[in-house]
Amino acid sequence: MVHQQDPSQSLEVEDVGSNPAPGRPIGSLIEARLSRRAALRGLVGAGAVGAFVETLLEGAQAQPLAVPREGGPSSLTFAELRQQLSQTHAVAEGYDVQMVIRWGDPVLAGAPPYDPRNLTAQAQALQFGYNCDYLDYFSLPMGSGSSDHGLLCVNHEYTNTNLMFPGIGEGRAARGRTNREQAAVEMAAHGMTVVEIRRENGTWRSVPGGSFNRRITMHTPMRISGPAAGHPRMQTGGDPSGTRVLGTLNNCAGGNTPWGTVITAEENFNGYFGGAAAETGPEAVNHRRYGVQRNATWAWGRFFDRFDLDKEPNEINRFGWIVEFDPFDPESVPVKRTALGRFKHEGATHAVSHDGRVAFYSGDDERFDYLYKFVTARAWRPDDRAANRDLLDEGTLFVARFEERGVLRWLPLVFGEGPLTEANGFQSQADVLIETRRAADLLGATPMDRPEDVETNPVNGRVYVMLTNNSRRTAQQANPANPRANNAHGHVVELIPPGAGTDRVDHTATEARWDFFLLAGKPGLDAGARYHRATSDNGWLSCPDNVAFDTKGRIWITTDGAAENAGIADGVWAADTSGYGRALTRLFFQAPTGAEVCGPRFTPDDRTLFLAIQHPGEDPGSTFERPSTRWPDFRDGEPPRPSVIAVVKRDGGEIGS
Ligand code: FEO
Ligand code: CA
Ligand code: CA
Ligand code: CA
Repeated sequence: MVHQQDPSQSLEVEDVGSNPAPGRPIGSLIEARLSRRAALRGLVGAGAVGAFVETLLEGAQAQPLAVPREGGPSSLTFAELRQQLSQTHAVAEGYDVQMVIRWGDPVLAGAPPYDPRNLTAQAQALQFGYNCDYLDYFSLPMGSGSSDHGLLCVNHEYTNTNLMFPGIGEGRAARGRTNREQAAVEMAAHGMTVVEIRRENGTWRSVPGGSFNRRITMHTPMRISGPAAGHPRMQTGGDPSGTRVLGTLNNCAGGNTPWGTVITAEENFNGYFGGAAAETGPEAVNHRRYGVQRNATWAWGRFFDRFDLDKEPNEINRFGWIVEFDPFDPESVPVKRTALGRFKHEGATHAVSHDGRVAFYSGDDERFDYLYKFVTARAWRPDDRAANRDLLDEGTLFVARFEERGVLRWLPLVFGEGPLTEANGFQSQADVLIETRRAADLLGATPMDRPEDVETNPVNGRVYVMLTNNSRRTAQQANPANPRANNAHGHVVELIPPGAGTDRVDHTATEARWDFFLLAGKPGLDAGARYHRATSDNGWLSCPDNVAFDTKGRIWITTDGAAENAGIADGVWAADTSGYGRALTRLFFQAPTGAEVCGPRFTPDDRTLFLAIQHPGEDPGSTFERPSTRWPDFRDGEPPRPSVIAVVKRDGGEIGS
């Protein structure tokens, strides 16, 4: 979702910035992180805030320098796109875009074809949902490593109600105007899709009615597990056990597990619930910290009691979690894993540690909120898939404190330890998890500039955190990892766990190193923007959101909000992470107007890059009748359709090489 400085222009309302004490003045701490090595390695930039700090910090692994290639320092070979705004997409010369699946396309057997003027909840529950965000690819057969046949797993984060229904008007206010049937369509357009896809004669296609195909919606039965399961604060009229819930919502980014399950993240859950209890009920302190308001954004609570806090005060406590399910079993019951905490999970990415335990890194996407990791109590078992089934129910949740001189401390969120006691209103670990944000406040976590996606680089073992922007940070609120006031363009932080760069990387440790990978914005124009010095006029970016790595360890960053914040289209930028081309970002793909680019996901052979084109046409004034684009089909009278595309190289080669 786009988060803008001027809320009147935005379709987004959930990110209210609800941390009451976001940070402390740090004076010249940033300057303390200036490194002469930055200058030595040729990393330059403009602006008053500290210089780019090179990664070779004390204790970190040095990386070999790649040999510079003919034509420049980058290992990436595509000719860069020219930045422009357009109603349609663009990709670097020599590459093709193939449509894989669009909102409304049939997924399950019996699904009717897309009919934009006659949407029904029944049809939508059988068709591809709206606003595709996270996407993943699992080879078929399971474990085969196939890059031509697999399962595509896709989140449907939210709906652009104004673009779905005729006559409903513009902007986010349209979400408050739906009738009961339209609300039911929205509920069926949320959730996830699992759909079989195949590449035949070089062309990707979805397989409607495939035997693994599945739609997860707001009606899908799910189990609640872990320390908060069954707690009285999780019990409702519909579920006195506190262990059963219907549906998942606002699923933004996601991840997977080494044992082949999907994890999907519930992000801005607050906007769906409303009622006086948001401000006055026994959970008012809890709700305030998550930005819950008396007036919900969505109209669902007018028709379905569970979204009305005054009728079902605890239903909201059953959202904001990480959900795990098995994409290879369409009958499997998704599980909300409460051990991983409750916040606006942008996603969760796994990293297998030296001892077989698994860390899951997850950002809480709100201005001044935090970065977390969960570490399983036990090692995973590669030889026994069933033994890993409930691995996510036991372990320790940590929150990050970024300190000067590149030190990162992971603070455990454990009931009874430090301030997480009855004196502060916590009676159990369930309370700590239900109110994860308040617990993290008390521990002194570092308020960040909206942590979005986090991914582990498989080559160097480092973990990359996309910080999308925070235009409300003042100079007094700057901190070592978030150095810029009025940070309209965001930045990318690199975490360096002990042993990174070896085969003994320790993702369980309570200390790590950190560094900046880049500070976004236009070099020479935006204060503090930092990239490789050879970054071109098209190579700079704004508002990093999602990220993937190819098998060579190169970073592929997608953006959300570049048009509003920087006047350029959102897109995909790629760079080397080491060697002479480090942080030399290059523009590979551009989205149609209003859209952010999500996914991204490579096939195992790096020859296909799947991208989710989310909310095309999400521009001020855009409506069903008069959308800012009719991408991808440009049919008269039809609105734009969020879609998953496949980018392939025309010669069949590896993307970027
Ligand atoms: Fe749904 Fe934080 O983007
Ligand atoms: Ca975003
Ligand atoms: Ca999104
Ligand atoms: Ca996002």
